[in-house]
Parts: sequence; structure tokens; C-alpha cells
Amino acid sequence: MPHSASVGAPQLLVELRGVGKTFGGLSVLSGIHLRLEPGSVHALVGENGAGKSTLSKIISGVYSADSGTLLIDDEEASFSSPREALDRGIATIAQELALVPELSVAENVFLGREPRRFGFIGRRRLKRDYLEIARRTGFDLPADAIVGGMRTADQQKVEIMRALARGASLIIMDEPTAALSAHDTELLHGVVRQLAAEGHTVLLISHFLSEVLELADTVTILRDGSLIRTRAAAEETEASLIEGMLGRSLGSVFPEKPEADARGEVVLSVRDLVAPGVYGVSFDVRAGEIVGLAGLVGAGRSEIAHAIFGAAPRNAGTVAVDGVEAPSSIAGTLKRGIFLLPESRKDQGLVLGRPIRDNVTLSNMDEVAIGGWVFANAERRASRSMLNRVTVAGDDRRPVSALSGGNQQKVLFGRALQRARRVLIADEPTRGVDVGSRRAIYDLIVEQAAQGLGVLVISSDVEEVLGLAHRVLVVRGGTIVGEFEGDAMTEENIITAAFADPITNGSV
Ligand SMILES: Nc1ncnc2c1ncn2[C@@H]1O[C@H](COP(=O)(O)OP(=O)(O)OP(=O)(O)O)[C@@H](O)[C@H]1O
Ligand SMILES: [Mg+2]
Repeated sequence: MPHSASVGAPQLLVELRGVGKTFGGLSVLSGIHLRLEPGSVHALVGENGAGKSTLSKIISGVYSADSGTLLIDDEEASFSSPREALDRGIATIAQELALVPELSVAENVFLGREPRRFGFIGRRRLKRDYLEIARRTGFDLPADAIVGGMRTADQQKVEIMRALARGASLIIMDEPTAALSAHDTELLHGVVRQLAAEGHTVLLISHFLSEVLELADTVTILRDGSLIRTRAAAEETEASLIEGMLGRSLGSVFPEKPEADARGEVVLSVRDLVAPGVYGVSFDVRAGEIVGLAGLVGAGRSEIAHAIFGAAPRNAGTVAVDGVEAPSSIAGTLKRGIFLLPESRKDQGLVLGRPIRDNVTLSNMDEVAIGGWVFANAERRASRSMLNRVTVAGDDRRPVSALSGGNQQKVLFGRALQRARRVLIADEPTRGVDVGSRRAIYDLIVEQAAQGLGVLVISSDVEEVLGLAHRVLVVRGGTIVGEFEGDAMTEENIITAAFADPITNGSV
């Protein structure tokens, strides 16, 4: 054992020496030297596609390295499956959630552990052990809830608890807080600190540089599959990390907003909308206007978006585009020019096995296909030009599953841009997207508005809402409880409205 354990957890020293990986002849990692010290938090940062997830998957047995060696406690190791890595004490919270939707929270957390499966005795123990994990994390999820129907943020919590339940020495967290609320992010940060204090190693991959600087002891920067440097976090700043990741510094993350014309025509008009999780919502969006929907995770923002788009049943109220009512179905709202960029790319968006090209144009087929024939040239051009705009490089005939997580998000965004004619609704448009590409997405949102679309942006990142929107609506409990623009559009006002007690607040 390298370090003497101060507290219980078994320690593991993991080291990479000259590790490289290629996919289909393309080198995605080369010459990586890395040493993960037990009892520390080691962060990995880099642009979308830099190789962070691939590196973590080599350590966790999903992929094997094409060159170089992996050392565990100074001995050469090679895992042929994640199961083998897990047996050596390496667990992963993957970027793409891997839960069994039909099973309950507790069953997922202890999946593969319970030898007697879910017999009577098994069930009681399962529940008891689950409560222990839930207490440790502070995550508040009912043991019996079925995972399939839960929101992304809650599924993420299940994934985190599962990694903890496995009692691993090294826990790899690939963007664990991308979908979490501020409160749950705080809880997770506490868990990470506690794990390190107990002697576990945490490998943290994150695009939130403030989070990285706050939690990590050591930071490694990857760029285009190469290791740029590994340094103590205390010696880095957000600017130095960005510079290392991009090879250049980044000016302002947010673009200039176009003037929003207060007398512009109303393009989207929502009146007394009632739907699952939505309790009477009315608002307008004008042409050229970017409206932010702020609020806590679970406040009902995505539910409002789904109801407008026709993805959820509309129980009462109306949605009109340019003064004409849109039917309550996706086909109907699409025809009226509304498009929704969904929050969860895996469940609601991409067909992972299909080529990138098809995924960009998927809901654009009526324009590239006539009478059932796809005009291949038109499709190729449409796809390539959109991918350039959202900064996704490389051959678009590859399957979407070959793209990094952030690049998959950009493909979804590209599709939404093509399809939105009058109203673009973007639910967490920059989730998992690196700092550099975030700016590209913001530019495109602003461009849509400048072209006369009405844009609705849902984001849990208040800074993002403030940086993009002309006006902010705050959602709580499935209704709009505050509206801010101009000087009143401040972080403080938004957060106060999002949290305020429904009885005492002076909502608008
Ligand atoms: N299964 C695969 N087949 C082919 N290429 C792949 C595969 N997985 C990853 N790649 C490629 O390897 C490179 C690195 O991808 P990786 O997922 O490691 O990036 P990342 O740093 O995790 O990015 P992100 O921040 O977007 O999650 C990318 O160019 C990606 O397209
Ligand atoms: Mg990744």
C-alpha cells in the first residue's frame, strides 16, 4: 500500500504510463502519463472530444489501451470488462446514465450485489442498506420509486449512490453534476470531500471550472488527446485552465444580445396552460426576444416546455403561434414552427446507432426527402453546414455513438436550429458542452432571435439566463411566480423568487 490509510477505505494507486488509444485509425489519446494519488481528488478537464471519457474508460475496463500500460498498486493490469475493474475497486459514474428503468431506486443502487436477488429477506436488507447510503449522501429519493419515470437529475443521484454502494477505492465521476440542481451539487461536493478524506480516490471530469478548482487537489488538462499538464489545483485559475484547454484565452463567454423590440409582434402566446406538472401558465414571447425560464430543478420548467411542444397532453389552455392556435401534438406544433431541444439527449433525442448526418437531419426529412426519396446531396450539405456551425468536426457518416458527450449535445442543438421556424425552446442547451463551444451555441441562439424567432431558454445556470435573455420568467410549483427585465433582472431577484415561500412572496 502506498500511503498509510488514516481511515478505513482500502487505497489504490492507479498509474498510466504512455497510454494511447485509437478508434478506427484515429488517435484519440496518446502518450498519457498520469498518477492518481490515493485520498485525493484528481480532476480532468478539456474541450468536448479531448479524450476525457475515453481515458476514464481505459481505467475502468470499458476500453483497453492500444499502447502504454495501466498500473494498479505498481503492478501492470489489464481489465477486459468494467466488472473486472470493479472487482479491483474501481467504480464509475458514467456520463451516459446506465440504469435499469424498470427497477426501483434501491434495486438499481445495489444492482448485481444482492445474491438472493429480491426475495423477502433480500428486500428488507436492501431497504436498510439503501437508507444508509441515502443518509450518507443526503439525497432524498424514495427507495421504491421506479427509476424509468424519474427526471434526469434524480437518475443521476441513483447512479452516484450506486457507485458509493460498491465501496470502491477509486470512483470515477464523469460530469456528475451536469444535471444536478445547486442544492444537490452541494450535497455531491460534500460526498466527494468525504470520500477523499476517507482515503478514496476520486477522478472528477467536469466542465464547471469553478467546481474543479473548489474540489480538486490536482488538475490534468487534456487537449486533442494529449496531456498538456498536471498541476496542483491551487496553482491554476479558471483563466489558466481555459487557456490550457483551448490553447488560447477566451474573451467574454456571452455574446451581445440584439435589441429586443418591446413592440415587436407576439410570436408565441401561451394562455392558462394546464398539463402534467403545469398549473395555469400564461406568457408571451415576441419575435426577436430571448426569454429565460429560470427556477429550481423540478420547478416545472421542462414540463412547461413539453406541454407547449405537445410532447405532454394539454389539459386546458391554449398555445398560439403568430396568433393561430397550435394543436396539442408534436406534429401540430412542428407544423406551426415550434421546436424543442430536449433536456435528455439519450431518451428524447438521438438515435445513437444512426450516422451523425441522419441525426442532424432526422426531423428535417420533409425538406431533404421528396416522395420518400432522400436527396443524398441535399442531406449531406445540410448536415455538414449545420455541424460546422455547432463546431462538430469529423466524418458525419460515423454513428452518433462515436461522438463525445458534449458533441452529441451539439448535434441535437444543430437539429433544433434547422427545425425551429418561429419558436425555439432550448432546455439546458449547454449541458455537458465545454466553455469554448458554449459561446458558439450562445451565438447561434442570439442569431435565431436576430432572425425574428422567439426563443425560450431553460437553464439552471442563472449566469447563463442573465447573459442570454432579455427577460426572465421564474417558475416554481408549475406556475410563473416572477418576471424580471432590465435592471430588475438580477441573480438575487431570480434566486429569491425561485426559492420564496409561496404564501409570503410578493410574486408578479
Ligand atoms: N466508441 C467510439 N468510437 C469512435 N470514436 C470514439 C468513440 N468514443 C469516443 N470516440 C472519439 O474519441 C474522441 C474523444 O472522445 P471522449 O468521449 O473521450 O471526449 P471527452 O473529452 O469525454 O468529451 P466531452 O467533454 O464531450 O464528454 C472523440 O473524438 C470521439 O469522437
Ligand atoms: Mg466525455
